[in-house]
Amino acid sequence: MSTVTFLMDGEETVIEAEAGKTLLALGLEHGLPIEHACGGNGFCTTCLCTVHSGMEYLSPRSDREENMGIVGDDTRLGCQAKVLGTGDVTVTVESL
Ligand code: FES
Repeated sequence: MSTVTFLMDGEETVIEAEAGKTLLALGLEHGLPIEHACGGNGFCTTCLCTVHSGMEYLSPRSDREENMGIVGDDTRLGCQAKVLGTGDVTVTVESL
């Protein structure tokens, strides 16, 4: 079983990685208060995540992310990065 570990506000939450779900959807479904001002449409960056490990187990960076300037090696928009479910991922939710 693959997992996504969310680090947020000093808390660590480990969730089973459900393939095809975004980091945002996965976190929200498990009660994490991840900001998502644009409703998960890739226009606001409030769902910004820093990926500590497992970037290769997330979907490729989307055009929307590139258009928003989210191009760093360790940053993703939570609403755009989908979990592949093929390995463990650890992220910090930045809560802008
Ligand atoms: S929720 Fe707005 S960019 Fe992700």
